[in-house]
Amino acid sequence: MDSTNLMLERADRGAMPELTAFVAASQTAGQGRLGRTWVSEPGSSISLSLLLRPNDRARKGWLTLMMAASVRATVEQFDPESKPLIKWPNDVLVVERKISGILAKALGDEVVLGVGLNLKSQQGAPETAIALDELGCDASFDEVLFELLTQFRARYAKFQSDAHWAVSDLAAEFREHSPTLGSNVIAMLPGGSQIQGLAIDIDADGNLLIESDVIHTISAADIIHLRN
Ligand code: BTN
Repeated sequence: MDSTNLMLERADRGAMPELTAFVAASQTAGQGRLGRTWVSEPGSSISLSLLLRPNDRARKGWLTLMMAASVRATVEQFDPESKPLIKWPNDVLVVERKISGILAKALGDEVVLGVGLNLKSQQGAPETAIALDELGCDASFDEVLFELLTQFRARYAKFQSDAHWAVSDLAAEFREHSPTLGSNVIAMLPGGSQIQGLAIDIDADGNLLIESDVIHTISAADIIHLRN
């Protein structure tokens, strides 16, 4: 397919139950954040999009971090030594290289939550990418997909029954496993401006708080980690 996200966006979703999953072993037009493309050559990565209907719509912004936490736990499950980390807002990194990317799109009250997880190194991928096989992990597509869905379903079930509780657990998970907090960072904002300062925390909406002369609340940005 061109893109699991696009396929789900175009689909007749009214007839589909929540957590309907579109999965591909390759995409011809994978979409990345900020209009970028996402490389997914045949058999090299999992491309997954889930249809979600969050009960607590005010907290739907947490769903990308929920997926990042699920990917992080999945990678750790297959390689406990790899120490995967979540870079705000939602990249999963191993040895400072990206193993997964997440792209969510809100469609009214529904959310299409897409995730790409690299299984094998790909020729067309950027140098900053890494894949599970480079960690010495040869788990199959189905094994990794099963674990990822299991991790996500557990977090999402909690979110649907008590979003406040689920979100505070997610924030704790992020604080434990993020290289962003406590780092000097540059936030490249979507409008083109930049903010440099110390990333001190995330707030109740999942925004990143950066301290410079004042505390800036960042809802969307590309983050560059500076050496402390
Ligand atoms: C990023 O730029 O980091 C986000 C990449 C998201 C890629 C996934 S692969 C499955 C889903 N379908 C897409 O077209 N994109 C997302």
